[in-house]
Amino acid sequence: MATMKAIRIHRFGDSGVLQLESIEIPHPQVGEVLVRIAAASVNPVDYKIRQGEFPPVTRDMLPITLGRDFSGVVEQVGSGVGSFVKGDRVFGMVGGDACYADYAVIKADHLAKVPENLDLIRAAAVPLAAQTAWQALFDHGHLEAGQRVLIQGASGGVGHFAVQFAAAKGAMVFATGSEKTRQFITSLGADRVIDYAHERFEDVCHDMDLVINLVSGDMQQRAWAVLRPGGTLVSTLSPPARDRPDAYGKNSRFFLVEPSGRQLEEIAHLMQGELVDVKLSVTFPLKNAAQAQDYLERSHVEGKVVLTVEG
Ligand SMILES: NC(=O)c1ccc[n+]([C@@H]2O[C@H](COP(=O)([O-])OP(=O)(O)OC[C@H]3O[C@@H](n4cnc5c(N)ncnc54)[C@H](OP(=O)(O)O)[C@@H]3O)[C@@H](O)[C@H]2O)c1
Repeated sequence: MATMKAIRIHRFGDSGVLQLESIEIPHPQVGEVLVRIAAASVNPVDYKIRQGEFPPVTRDMLPITLGRDFSGVVEQVGSGVGSFVKGDRVFGMVGGDACYADYAVIKADHLAKVPENLDLIRAAAVPLAAQTAWQALFDHGHLEAGQRVLIQGASGGVGHFAVQFAAAKGAMVFATGSEKTRQFITSLGADRVIDYAHERFEDVCHDMDLVINLVSGDMQQRAWAVLRPGGTLVSTLSPPARDRPDAYGKNSRFFLVEPSGRQLEEIAHLMQGELVDVKLSVTFPLKNAAQAQDYLERSHVEGKVVLTVEG
């Protein structure tokens, strides 16, 4: 039995429950690809799953290998896969948890080729965060050029892609962030950055076509006040409550990101054309996944945290 390293959990808890283990290398089935992982991204969902706070992952599903997106090199393709060959540099988001490991199997439909101008470590930071931003803005928010959008949580993994996608679309972008992230968010293309500790976004934003809510707390409910009639509030956190007078005549959406290779190709194309970039905050080796998760949860990172997989 060929084995690989993987970071797994057998029970929910703090980062001490993460274990480095040796498990069997998976085999690609029909329509699937086996990838030798170069790097895996760390997302808030990873520590929420570990804490038992992400309901789709239940106790009876344990043990699991954590990690939802990665970059790497194609090792083997299953039957029926014509779009990738051994040696291709690829990235993608698996439809579950599997990526804090040396290898992962992924549906070919969920995979895309990494743009030539992007190294594999930075590429790992893209799939889940960028696809979430894309789906929030365009699939659920239907953002058009010239519209006004507010992005709450603009400096984080999802937010820093959302600002760039919205600016590239030609929207007028308002964005909240802490004072120390102002310059970073401005560099992403935001027209107006609102330091949430010293300014209320309600004093700056009005008649918004769309609000993207990426931050917990009262910001989601306060967003209703700045939307125009018929405007839309999209949240990645929870379904917005609508029991307020200022929600009347406005729309809301909550969604869970879906993997899509086709969408990731579009994002790769924007990155190849240098219209969009990814910001890496810090990398940790795979064996330090616990520190990486604690860092992401506690540090208000700019951009993304990534685990490097040494092989
Ligand atoms: N539904 C889905 O499918 C889906 C997909 C991806 C992510 N998500 C969720 O979306 C959220 C954002 O994800 P992410 O990857 O972007 O997370 P992240 O990288 O940790 O970023 C979080 C952002 O929140 C801001 N923030 C933290 N505390 C704040 C506060 N008290 N007030 C205002 N802003 C605050 C941070 O900015 P500052 O440093 O400026 O404070 C940072 O920009 C997470 O909860 C994640 O679980 C859901």
